[in-house]
Amino acid sequence: MAAGEIGWLREKYGYPWVGHVGTVALDSEVIRGISVQGAFGPRGMPRRYRAAGRAHMESDRTMAQAGTDNADYRERLLLYYEEEVMGAAYFTGLARHFGGAAEREKLARLAEVERRAAEAVRPLLAKHGLVPRDVSVLKPLGEANVERHRRYSWADLMAYMVARYPAYLEEFKELERLAPEDDLPALKLLTHHEVATIDFANKEIAGDPDSLASIREYLDHGTV
Ligand SMILES: [Fe+2]
Repeated sequence: MAAGEIGWLREKYGYPWVGHVGTVALDSEVIRGISVQGAFGPRGMPRRYRAAGRAHMESDRTMAQAGTDNADYRERLLLYYEEEVMGAAYFTGLARHFGGAAEREKLARLAEVERRAAEAVRPLLAKHGLVPRDVSVLKPLGEANVERHRRYSWADLMAYMVARYPAYLEEFKELERLAPEDDLPALKLLTHHEVATIDFANKEIAGDPDSLASIREYLDHGTV
């Protein structure tokens, strides 16, 4: 990765670890190592490995268009799946820090959405010969991210989601662009879960009494 790209990432995300990303190759084990060491969660910040992935994005798109095997696609698929499993643990853990029953229930629904998204793409992992880390490993990783937000007010959390989650949505759309066509129905479910979650947070901020409408739609029909 060029120094300019690292600078762009630092400017965009403002995290000191970004400098380390520039030192690693696009290798799943190395990148996953950063993921674990960084102690940032699927909902905590933009994905760590994203930095390395972006540097290769253009060539990967070309590969996808050519119908050739796409290592970056498979790598993202695996990690995004794992992050949904972690995300479910994150929301479940976060719920314990909110006093209101309504808030806890809403976070439980968000955890359910994360689980549903993970379930949707799980068959693609087997199809592509990918083996995720066990839930016994992923769950504590997700729970570790609660610490960063456990003192947030509800309004803080909603504002954070609205500000940060669109970046995830863009990544899921990029995953679709890299994907073989057969994978798109499952990947749409992954993309839609983020749309529903962002819509929920926006409705919460707006004071909409039916803020869970998109979440219900997603859980009932997989659509938004
Ligand atoms: Fe998610």
